[in-house]
Amino acid sequence: MTTKQLAPISVDQAVAVVTGGANGIGKGIARALVSRGAKVVIADIEADRIDETVAELSSEGTVSGWQTDVSDIDSFEALADHVFDTHGSCSLLFNNAGVGSGGGGKAWESEPNDWKWCFGVNVFGTANGVMAFVPRMLESGQPGHVINTSSGDGGFAPVPMAQVYAASKAAVSCYTEALHYQLLDESDVMGASVFYPSGGMMNTGLFNAARNRPKELARVRNPDRRSAMSFEELKDRLEKAGRDVKVADLDELGNFVVDSVEKRQYIIARDIDDTIDLLRRRADAIEQFDVPPVHQMGI
Ligand SMILES: NC(=O)c1ccc[n+]([C@@H]2O[C@H](COP(=O)([O-])OP(=O)(O)OC[C@H]3O[C@@H](n4cnc5c(N)ncnc54)[C@H](O)[C@@H]3O)[C@@H](O)[C@H]2O)c1
Repeated sequence: MTTKQLAPISVDQAVAVVTGGANGIGKGIARALVSRGAKVVIADIEADRIDETVAELSSEGTVSGWQTDVSDIDSFEALADHVFDTHGSCSLLFNNAGVGSGGGGKAWESEPNDWKWCFGVNVFGTANGVMAFVPRMLESGQPGHVINTSSGDGGFAPVPMAQVYAASKAAVSCYTEALHYQLLDESDVMGASVFYPSGGMMNTGLFNAARNRPKELARVRNPDRRSAMSFEELKDRLEKAGRDVKVADLDELGNFVVDSVEKRQYIIARDIDDTIDLLRRRADAIEQFDVPPVHQMGI
């Protein structure tokens, strides 16, 4: 496969689509893009939050919204039609929408609907974005970039208690590498990056992702199991375990992501010294045919 260095990509005046851009990390990315002159389309399932975020960001530049269910290819195709009809192009696609494991519990306590929902949004949502947008981005011949949001949980190593989410993000990381190599083979101006949100705890809606879980994918066998800890609970537990807890500023994170995309950096991550050490220890274990060490929550 080809390895080549892509020229930096200009964000100023770019048309950018951010899935999951109505809240949390995606909103930070959308704000950074808008403030640098990009024309941003926020694609999210939450119509009310799209309206609020578009209203909030529109004083800073050009931004609009389009309700999209990323797990549904028809919905993603309708978004692509809208973006190309309205703006004539798309050069930056951020596949960022994501949800959690969908119910917690041990691997054998997960339900098929946990897998369908989590993989529907995190994995199919990413692949649908590529299938809906990349052919037209390639056809335009213009510089373009696809940025897929993974997670250190799964993308680098699992947090063992989050088996469904970790598996989905391992898929996103692996898929993005394959995509990047294929784009380099196909074109001199298009590539991909994988983004690992990092640099502290993130106070986002992910802790309450079940708000967007479709009724038809509800838990059946154990409907009352709590899906996740709240941000405050997790922060509290980590602090009680003696961990030095830093909370990330999501606007700063968004700016960091956009800086990295401009440089065409493949891995977008910060403060990952501990992860690099973990990856080295994983390689050592694999060399010994041993089980690799994983992320330890320590709580
Ligand atoms: N928060 C963290 O600690 C963390 C860490 C690593 C990775 N991530 C990843 O970052 C990304 C953003 O998550 P966040 O933490 O900002 O959470 P968030 O809940 O604040 O944002 C996720 C967004 O995705 C949207 N969404 C959910 N289902 C959708 C669907 N079917 N179609 C379209 N949009 C949908 C939500 O409405 C929301 O706006 C996710 O991919 C998540 O897995 C988050």
